[in-house]
Amino acid sequence: MKQRTIKTALAATAVLGLAFAGMASAEPVDDTLVIDGVEIVTKAAGAAHLDGALPEAMSGWHFRDTETRAMQADDFDNPGMIYVDRGLDLWNAVDGTEGKSCASCHEGPEAMAGLRAVTPRVDEKTGKVMNIESYVNDCRTTRMGAEAWGDKAVELTDMLALISFQSRGELMNVAIDGAAAPFYEKGKEIYYTRFGQLELSCASCHEDNYGNYIRSDHLSQGQTNGFPVYRLKDAKLTTPQGRFVGCVRDTRAETFKIGSDEFNALELYVASRGNGLAVEGVSVRN
Ligand code: HEC
Ligand code: HEC
Repeated sequence: MKQRTIKTALAATAVLGLAFAGMASAEPVDDTLVIDGVEIVTKAAGAAHLDGALPEAMSGWHFRDTETRAMQADDFDNPGMIYVDRGLDLWNAVDGTEGKSCASCHEGPEAMAGLRAVTPRVDEKTGKVMNIESYVNDCRTTRMGAEAWGDKAVELTDMLALISFQSRGELMNVAIDGAAAPFYEKGKEIYYTRFGQLELSCASCHEDNYGNYIRSDHLSQGQTNGFPVYRLKDAKLTTPQGRFVGCVRDTRAETFKIGSDEFNALELYVASRGNGLAVEGVSVRN
């Protein structure tokens, strides 16, 4: 993989000049997300650990058009909500050699309330970064005698939708200290590393250019509080790491694998950039 870290602002400006030539910019839309009468926090003071790199954290919701924002504001119009229901069916379904369902041990999905806001996090026993997907597959393989669901399996995204929905409105609060510190540092390094023929880092687009247009897309801060995201373009749900794959490919680089140490560290770091924003449950994006 071709990668290098740009040390000078001068080189960065030259590269961006090419990539974003002729791009219009527009302020993120000043709007309030209210679902079922409850206001969802979509703007927050930039996390202190970013040292001012993001003066204000903003959900990707602010960068979408009027129709897309409206769709997310109404659960009946939000196409992602169907997957929450499907997740509930899976939650109650017996699977694997142990003859158990998720409900056999966890009772209702409400038991998962709050989890989405604090993950990814480092598991104390194994020292590994765990996101919801890895917890789910861990229970399937070690506790149910069932096979792990694949990275892009609809079952996994349905379950992610169900579990994330239990934390809707809770503020992201991913730990970056203690056992998480080395992963935070690794994720941060990846975030600022320039990849591919275009030599663009995550920061080139989502820190230095949010508000600008790239092709017809209004660039957001690339926050993960909205995940899983229902993408109108794909007509399905996407996980944070599934989204990272697409973004890295856009720089014409080879990407890391979903579930790799690199992407797990990156997901933890990116999530921490959005600390203070509310979990949206299931969001809608183009
Ligand atoms: C045989 C019992 C059992 C089954 C079946 C089971 N789990 Fe678990 N699960 C556990 C235990 C035990 C833990 C660890 C709890 C802890 O460490 O506090 C856990 C942890 C989790 C966690 C992390 C939650 C947290 O607060 O740390 C998630 C998410 C999870 N399970 C999801 C699922 C899902 C989804 C299913 C069904 C596909 C499932 N589990 C099936 C027993 C089970
Ligand atoms: C060439 C520019 C570019 C680069 C580089 C890039 N992205 Fe993106 N990314 C986009 C565009 C365009 C979108 C869709 C519009 C938006 O939300 O910004 C997007 C969307 C996202 C989203 C979804 C945000 C939401 O609210 O739906 C996340 C998360 C994300 N990117 C993370 C990353 C990460 C992590 C990296 C580095 C590995 C990265 N991106 C690199 C252009 C880029």
